[in-house]
Amino acid sequence: MDSPKIGGIACVDWSTGSLVGPNARESVKTLGQMRGLFQNQNEFERMDLNTIIYRVQWLAPVPDGTEGGLFWGTTVIEPGRVGDEYFMTHGHFHAKRDRAEYYGCLEGKGMLIMMDTARRTWAECMEPGSLHYIPGNVAHRVANAGETQLKLTACWPSDAGHDYAAIRQEGFGARLLARNGESVLVPTR
Ligand code: F6R
Ligand code: ZN
Repeated sequence: MDSPKIGGIACVDWSTGSLVGPNARESVKTLGQMRGLFQNQNEFERMDLNTIIYRVQWLAPVPDGTEGGLFWGTTVIEPGRVGDEYFMTHGHFHAKRDRAEYYGCLEGKGMLIMMDTARRTWAECMEPGSLHYIPGNVAHRVANAGETQLKLTACWPSDAGHDYAAIRQEGFGARLLARNGESVLVPTR
């Protein structure tokens, strides 16, 4: 797509969520950056740590931490597994715990895994068109349970921030694993 010719802060390809324009920022997460997050450490070490697990593009029209603003982003998660566990995002609570978020699935198939502060964990199916409201005080992660890329779009408050440490230390209360060709949410303990 060429640079935006219409008004607004960027151009969105609504079929893929792809953002185009000078304001769009991008980050890439490789397998190596996700050490310790997948269950099967042996399988993890056998894989190419440069494998791209997901990419995020986002728009931050106000500085990070601004009260009252909104951010917008698109995440593309590659298909694949570490052992039985599907490729997934790191997952986080918002640093300001009570900040909520919308996720919408554009393409692919997977699960939005959510966990409250008491570690109760549940999941919602993501498929093209599904819209998900993530309440405040709920950690969130997406796993790609399909054979193709999973593309989702998100909108969250600009003062939400991200607390990754809590997930790095304790993980979620359940993992999305492949069992006999099905994806199953399996409690961790
Ligand atoms: C923002 C948000 C998403 C994620 C993205 C990557 O609050 O939830 O934009 O940041 O899907 O996941 P993480 O941040 O867990 O690596
Ligand atoms: Zn979030």
